[in-house]
Amino acid sequence: MIEFGMNPIEFIRKNQKIHGNFFTFLMFGRRMTVCVDIEGNDFVFNAKHSCVTAEDAYNPLTKPIFGEGVVYDVPNAVLMEQKRMVKAGLSIENFRAYIPIFIQEVNQYVDKHWTKDEGTVDILQSISEMIIMTASHTLLGPEIRSKLHEGIADLYHTLDSCFTPIHFLFEWLPLPSYYASGKAHDELDRIFSSVIAERRKHMGEKHIDMLDALMKSRYKTGEPLSDKHVGNILIALLMAGQHSSSATTTWALLNLAANPDVANEVRAENETRFGRKLGAKSFPEPSYEDVKDFVVLDNIVRETLRIRPPIIQLMRKVVKPVAIPSTNYVIPAGNYIIASPIISATDEKYYKAAEDWIPSRWNTAEKEDAMDKATTDYGFGATTTSARSPALPFGAGRHRCIGEQFSYVQIKTILYVLLSRFDFSLDPKRGMPERNFRSMVVFPEGPVLCRYKRRTG
Ligand code: HEM
Repeated sequence: MIEFGMNPIEFIRKNQKIHGNFFTFLMFGRRMTVCVDIEGNDFVFNAKHSCVTAEDAYNPLTKPIFGEGVVYDVPNAVLMEQKRMVKAGLSIENFRAYIPIFIQEVNQYVDKHWTKDEGTVDILQSISEMIIMTASHTLLGPEIRSKLHEGIADLYHTLDSCFTPIHFLFEWLPLPSYYASGKAHDELDRIFSSVIAERRKHMGEKHIDMLDALMKSRYKTGEPLSDKHVGNILIALLMAGQHSSSATTTWALLNLAANPDVANEVRAENETRFGRKLGAKSFPEPSYEDVKDFVVLDNIVRETLRIRPPIIQLMRKVVKPVAIPSTNYVIPAGNYIIASPIISATDEKYYKAAEDWIPSRWNTAEKEDAMDKATTDYGFGATTTSARSPALPFGAGRHRCIGEQFSYVQIKTILYVLLSRFDFSLDPKRGMPERNFRSMVVFPEGPVLCRYKRRTG
């Protein structure tokens, strides 16, 4: 258990060698069955819902944060309907509207905070702020974005303080963070309700954001989402995306800082596309199609997610015994099963130099192979629901991420602006940070220092 807590990846690899792709260990009295490699991923992601559920594993952790009546606090069929409603706010029309907002937010942030010609910054902190501004603006809408500096960001942080392994392991403990998060939740509810009420008064006004999509959504029965549930879904989306996208963008930027040749490839591709040199503030605003077609950036995000996926353990609870295919083993009810797709994604069996960050590997057959299995709704970012690909940073099956395309557009646009305006290098004393496995999402160990230098032109 201690080994698992310190470095789950090393622990799983070591035990995979000894016991194979399925093995069980005890964690504070809970029986945790790890299921790895392609067969383990498939087993967890495509398990029958009547035997294995996500809600039994996650709801004790997420309900105090998301609130009642949404995501894991409803039967799975209702979650599927809520995911369909969210997809309406992630349409191509919405992405077209979101890109200029992402650019405006990033420019505003660097103009305010990175004022010198060169300097060292805590890049995780900077990126987290850019993600919260861009996500709040496009998902929650401009009204709530404009209140971020009036304490809303603190309310998010309070809710966030419940999103830790200790809250998963000791859900019965009366931790003070539960009380604080309850109060923060009520306050956010109040703010969301007043914005929703204001929008309802001016129904003729056009808004393109997730709030608008959810306010217009209906269940199959024709019933709309209640205002409270609209607010709770927005909180859930923000929490789902904030850490994963911040971690991914930060890891991508650190790797770019360590590999200036790859950063130059991004610029070269963009210069070919736009027919002029990019630098300082003279970069053009890309269209949705441009962002979709930024191949080098696409490879960078894909490769970062392969070796540094933010979520390395996905959990389900067994509610009815399940047999492991082609074995005599049965996993009893009450066990938790854990998928860890990073194990196959960094296995030499599937990728040469598997631990190395090599974005160009996705130019070759490996990408075609992944894309073959994909149904590409938007033309980029594999949206496969198959669990047979070795790299599954967005999961698979019924609980697969619906924020993948949003994240790709958001992260690629942020990197496009930053690489157009700045050169980056690692802080010589800190170098490339190790991974911090103490939080639910795998961030670089802090302080995450990075040097920036303003480009001219
Ligand atoms: C589910 C990863 C961004 C919304 C998931 C799952 C993973 C994941 C691995 C599967 C969970 C499981 O099977 O237990 C990521 C990564 C992201 C990202 C790596 C960014 C790089 C986002 C964003 C949003 C979002 C931006 C919202 C706009 C969701 C939702 C689910 C989900 C609604 C479905 C939960 C379910 O059905 O149980 N994500 N996510 N994600 N994600 Fe994401």
